[in-house]
Amino acid sequence: MGKPTGIEPQPRREMPNRPLFRCPLPDGKRAPLHLPLLSRQLHPTHASRPAYKSRFSPPWQLPRSPIAITATRETYSTSSQTVSPSKPRSITTHSNPKMAAERSANFEAELKRNPHPDFKKTEASRPPFDTTSSFRYTQTPSPSWTFGGGANQLAPSSAPAHISIDPHADGRLSSSNYKLLISAVIPRPMAFLSTRSEDGTTTNLAPFSYFQMIGHDPPLFVIGFTGPADATRAKDSVRNLLSTRECVINIIGEDFIEAANSTSINAPYGSSEWDVSGLTPLYDCETVPRVARVGEAVFSIEGKLESFREFDSKATPGKKSGTMVIIEGTRFWAREDSINEERNLIDPKVGFP
Ligand SMILES: Cc1cc2nc3c(=O)[nH]c(=O)nc-3n(C[C@H](O)[C@H](O)[C@H](O)COP(=O)(O)O)c2cc1C
Repeated sequence: MGKPTGIEPQPRREMPNRPLFRCPLPDGKRAPLHLPLLSRQLHPTHASRPAYKSRFSPPWQLPRSPIAITATRETYSTSSQTVSPSKPRSITTHSNPKMAAERSANFEAELKRNPHPDFKKTEASRPPFDTTSSFRYTQTPSPSWTFGGGANQLAPSSAPAHISIDPHADGRLSSSNYKLLISAVIPRPMAFLSTRSEDGTTTNLAPFSYFQMIGHDPPLFVIGFTGPADATRAKDSVRNLLSTRECVINIIGEDFIEAANSTSINAPYGSSEWDVSGLTPLYDCETVPRVARVGEAVFSIEGKLESFREFDSKATPGKKSGTMVIIEGTRFWAREDSINEERNLIDPKVGFP
């Protein structure tokens, strides 16, 4: 493993020529930013790349991920032990434990949240992870695309009709929106969030896929948590983040995907997911020294809480159902073999071999 390099976010440099964002169309309108165009301009070698090859046929049929996103409800086998995550918090708050368990079972039966009740069996039926396929740049599916060209050849020849879905339709479970969205909004980046309790006695590490960067000057990131911000009921990560205002966001690599996934267990407050995962906590952060970053991550971001907001449930009026935090990145950590000399580009082949 290469030595990580601490990088302070640099002030914005002026870039006077930005034709990609202001490309006039022949009729004087402005073309929206188009990623294939952007990549072609940034990389004049585009034509030398291998042609795009669709991995899925038809393109709207997606592969099943090797690690099920719904794995929080499954049983994980880690190298050292097997752990069963507890039931979702939102349905375990009943005062009578027996009734709560019954309600929870009914709820799960109706929702069918987990499409693979025996995930190990399902996984055994799948081909092994393909270590020969690695990250590589290709051409876009249609390198000769021009303005006005519309969808490329991957689009279905006769487009099926669309169905309108009301997220709050009568009888629709809010969890169906969750299931729908995690299958539709893909691929999603993942925040592998490290926090520490205010008294310093507890550390927490968990994956969150309601995550995105939302700015670079200053570097800003958003993370969405299910559940309230209230310290007595919040997820441990939220509780720590709101009280200390400090965290480290680590980017997950395939070389520790199982360990990262294992940390989503609902460990009792006070016990650490670091032990469950076997990952390496490194206490060398410069702006949030009390919080550990993940040694195995190629890229990590030290961060401070910028703001947060709690959301009201529409399905259960009066309930707080979500918490959004905005984190300001205060230091970047990049493994030295993954970053260029100018410290502004990560090689995805190193980060995602
Ligand atoms: C792949 C994956 C993605 C997840 N994404 C989210 C998310 O975006 N928001 C959320 O609240 N929980 C998410 N979870 C569940 C949390 O990781 C889980 O509730 C964890 O126990 C929270 O840890 P904590 O109590 O230590 O904060 C995800 C779990 C997995 C496995």
